[in-house]
Amino acid sequence: MFRGIKHTSILLAILLCRTLNCQLCNLGNLKSHRYNTSISSVYVGTGDVPLTADKAFNGQYSNYLSQCAGTKQDLWNKTAWWQVTFKSLSMIFKINLIFREGYSRHEKYYVFITNGTVSREELNALNPVYHDEHVKPSYQNTIVFPGGHYGLQVYILVNRTVSDAGHGKYVELCEAEVYGCVHATNGIVPNCNCSNTTMDNKHLVLWDSRIAFGNGTVTLHCYKYYLSIMNLTSQTESELVSILEACDGRQHCTFPTSRKLKQNLIRFNCTDRCTNKAYNNTIPVSQLMTDSDISYNLKVSNNFTAFLKSRKLNCAERHVLTNGNLTLQCQRKGQWIGKAPVCNVTCQEPTHENSTTIRQSAPSPKYFVDHIISYACRKNHRLEKGNLTRVCNESGDWTGDQPVCKRCKCPCERLKSQNFITDPQVLQNRIKEMEKELKINEKALSTTVRKKTCAKDERKSAKGIGSVLGIGIIVFVVSIIVCSDIPMLYRHIRYGPESS
Ligand SMILES: *[C@@H]1O[C@H](CO)[C@@H](O)[C@H](O)[C@H]1NC(C)=O
Ligand SMILES: *[C@@H]1O[C@H](CO)[C@@H](O)[C@H](O)[C@H]1NC(C)=O
Ligand SMILES: *[C@@H]1O[C@H](CO)[C@@H](O)[C@H](O)[C@H]1NC(C)=O
Ligand SMILES: *[C@@H]1O[C@H](CO)[C@@H](O)[C@H](O)[C@H]1NC(C)=O
Ligand SMILES: *[C@@H]1O[C@H](CO)[C@@H](O)[C@H](O)[C@H]1NC(C)=O
Ligand SMILES: *[C@@H]1O[C@H](CO)[C@@H](O)[C@H](O)[C@H]1NC(C)=O
Ligand SMILES: *[C@@H]1O[C@H](CO)[C@@H](O)[C@H](O)[C@H]1NC(C)=O
Ligand SMILES: *[C@@H]1O[C@H](CO)[C@@H](O)[C@H](O)[C@H]1NC(C)=O
Ligand SMILES: *[C@@H]1O[C@H](CO)[C@@H](O)[C@H](O)[C@H]1NC(C)=O
Ligand SMILES: *[C@@H]1O[C@H](CO)[C@@H](O)[C@H](O)[C@H]1NC(C)=O
Repeated sequence: MFRGIKHTSILLAILLCRTLNCQLCNLGNLKSHRYNTSISSVYVGTGDVPLTADKAFNGQYSNYLSQCAGTKQDLWNKTAWWQVTFKSLSMIFKINLIFREGYSRHEKYYVFITNGTVSREELNALNPVYHDEHVKPSYQNTIVFPGGHYGLQVYILVNRTVSDAGHGKYVELCEAEVYGCVHATNGIVPNCNCSNTTMDNKHLVLWDSRIAFGNGTVTLHCYKYYLSIMNLTSQTESELVSILEACDGRQHCTFPTSRKLKQNLIRFNCTDRCTNKAYNNTIPVSQLMTDSDISYNLKVSNNFTAFLKSRKLNCAERHVLTNGNLTLQCQRKGQWIGKAPVCNVTCQEPTHENSTTIRQSAPSPKYFVDHIISYACRKNHRLEKGNLTRVCNESGDWTGDQPVCKRCKCPCERLKSQNFITDPQVLQNRIKEMEKELKINEKALSTTVRKKTCAKDERKSAKGIGSVLGIGIIVFVVSIIVCSDIPMLYRHIRYGPESS
């Protein structure tokens, strides 16, 4: 189990840092990007320390009295809220909210991300990106937006609820980390430009959360995706297992944090749940984890086990798609849209010399395995070398060699120029092909054959070849092969097939 986790986390680290801008910034800490912060009311604590809105961005959270943003006990019919507005549109990937330690007065709170400036009243018409259902929400909540979420503003709102009798509605936000990049083309912060996709392993802040408090609770939430827990910096296996049990494969989870866990990093990933199967004879072209314009485009091996949003594949060289789809989209609930692709090997267009012709009713656009191609010597020519019958084999090659015929000096001895099939494999394939084409059931076949031939057939060669098929079928098939030439057929029946 743990080997698997480690393996996946390495792969994911590679995956995420391939093309994603790993230089995400803590947007709230960037004064040059922050336009303003505000709060519904400012609590002034002992020592006349006002808990202003911007204290949620001061990087400190352990001392409630002076380092948090905090509201007064608002009137019952009012809503407590806190918000930040950025100077330009951003792409937000993660929000880590650290509330006041030991308090859960942000009961049933909402998180909104808006892509324009809206007033608190206008929020009622919008959908929150997060709503905590709990009466006692966690002290810390990490919400990840795997594909990114456009945002100009972030609001935290504690609405009036029926059950809030007894205590007020507060926002007591000690720290808000908003990780993302600046989307606008006139981005003022060059390092955080969303299109400036540099790779920097040191800034992989997206998929982890530092546990702020021991003796508390932490909530992890994946926006539209599902949690996959990677590891925990504390080597406490039992704790990791209980977190796995609580969180893995869920969109949302809350787990208790022991004192030992304080300041430890929990690593996780938000995934879609489509499993990434390997398909034979395909080459991955791209695999995406996102539906935003920042993509995790990469080339990885077929047996990569992460969960993906979409996959594009190509058939391997010399293979063509015969079934399914080469582009697969992962739907919510872990279903791929599109059938598994089947790519079959094909042979190249057969070549021929000008002493021969290729006999086929119409050139086939694709030559699959077992396709038989027959050549004929030109008039007054006979086979000198190569094979007049060739079959497309499993490696996409024509068996045998290209035939070469030579002009006969005197009238050709007919027999030698005929393309008797001597190779047992070729014969088997021809028989199979004919079986398919004619679609004659064995019974009907053998009666007609018996009527038509009346031949007592006890030839050893026939027995040797046809252990599966009846003697009658062999005769029938051989007859068809040679039947273009009536005298030949006569000869054949009388004397049996020539062995050379
Ligand atoms: C842990 O937290 C709970 C609730 O906040 C509190 O009642 C309890 O005393 C704390 N335990 C320790 C050992 O601090
Ligand atoms: C902003 O939000 C509106 C309404 O939700 C939406 O129609 C629009 O596409 C959004 N713009 C961007 C850039 O996301
Ligand atoms: C807050 O409560 C008011 C009144 O109950 C309600 O109209 C509004 O939709 C609520 N807002 C949110 C974001 O739930
Ligand atoms: C950010 O990226 C956009 C698009 O590539 C570019 O037009 C703009 O100049 C960049 N801004 C900065 C500050 O690098
Ligand atoms: C957790 O991940 C870190 C960084 O990737 C790694 O150094 C550490 O060994 C991992 N721990 C476990 C238990 O896999
Ligand atoms: C893929 O190839 C393997 C090995 O050649 C084979 O066992 C398996 O049946 C193939 N799967 C499909 C779907 O053809
Ligand atoms: C997948 O392939 C089937 C036929 O193999 C086709 O009917 C269907 O439209 C394709 N679906 C997509 C999403 O490309
Ligand atoms: C393609 O390959 C599959 C399995 O490998 C086989 O069942 C199918 O008949 C093949 N299709 C063609 C057109 O050869
Ligand atoms: C197919 O034929 C080619 C050329 O004759 C040969 O090299 C190859 O080994 C054959 N492959 C199989 C699977 O029989
Ligand atoms: C091709 O012809 C040669 C010589 O006649 C023969 O030995 C060989 O078996 C043939 N191969 C095939 C695949 O028919």
